[in-house]
Amino acid sequence: MKVLVATEKPFAKSAVDGIKQIIDEAGFEFALLEKYTEKKQLLNAVADANAIIIRSDIIDAEVLAAAKNLKIVVRAGAGYDNVDLDAATKAGVCVMNTPGQNANAVAELVLGLLVFTVRNFYNGKSGSELMGKKLGLLAFGNVGRNVARIAKGFGMEVYAYDAFCPATAIESAGVKAVANQNELFKTCDIVSLHIPATAETKNSINYEMVGQMKKGGILINTARKEVIDEAGLLKLMAEREDLKYITDIMPAANDDFAKFEGRYFSTPKKMGAQTAEANTNAGLAAARQIVDFIKNGNEKFRVNK
Ligand code: 3PG
Repeated sequence: MKVLVATEKPFAKSAVDGIKQIIDEAGFEFALLEKYTEKKQLLNAVADANAIIIRSDIIDAEVLAAAKNLKIVVRAGAGYDNVDLDAATKAGVCVMNTPGQNANAVAELVLGLLVFTVRNFYNGKSGSELMGKKLGLLAFGNVGRNVARIAKGFGMEVYAYDAFCPATAIESAGVKAVANQNELFKTCDIVSLHIPATAETKNSINYEMVGQMKKGGILINTARKEVIDEAGLLKLMAEREDLKYITDIMPAANDDFAKFEGRYFSTPKKMGAQTAEANTNAGLAAARQIVDFIKNGNEKFRVNK
């Protein structure tokens, strides 16, 4: 039984060591492909793999076709929009994620980026504080909940809207529930995106939606770049010199956004989950889920039909 860790963006070494130990103890074979630069390296590596642990690595129909012995793919993380679920189902491959395991890391980055932003990217000029500001969370899953917890420590007023989470659940976490997404953008000084990239959410954060924000609004995206209508947001930022866009997922139109000096920031690589702790939590969970699936047939975290 061969388990391949295929991560273009590598885990911390301590996490890789922990994954290897779990695979070794199960009596399985461990293989590692990190920092690959071409798809053909992935296609070669998956050829004899029975299980694969990935991050944002693309597992499409071509990769699945090349992985003739594959039984399971575990996305060590939350979002699985990088895996072709239908192709996996057709190939008889189980796909899982590891929900919640890297949520705190992403949430800490959100607050870190917000301090950086309201202090003018640490340029030395007088900035502002987060205390008392209204923070809106678009979606109240594992990351949203962690952002709320930390933001309350900053003394922020936290609001949330989640199409799939009832207002009562949001309120019971000590967060103000708003009626809909428009209300969230109208009410809050800062909106932080925590929605997955789905057919419904892609391009949904557009000119009209963000245009409802108050003067000086900040949009922060540590979710997926696909949820942003980049052309619409660029048009809006050109019209509204008060708006800021902050992200750890570099937009396709990064060069155009970069023209809004002092109002736009992107990390060079997606880094919300890039901590040793998150890598360990998600990576070890992925390895354990694979062992439990192969040995006991446990499909608890399965995300495809
Ligand atoms: C996730 O969906 O878990 C996060 O976006 C983290 O992605 P990464 O593993 O590529 O850092």
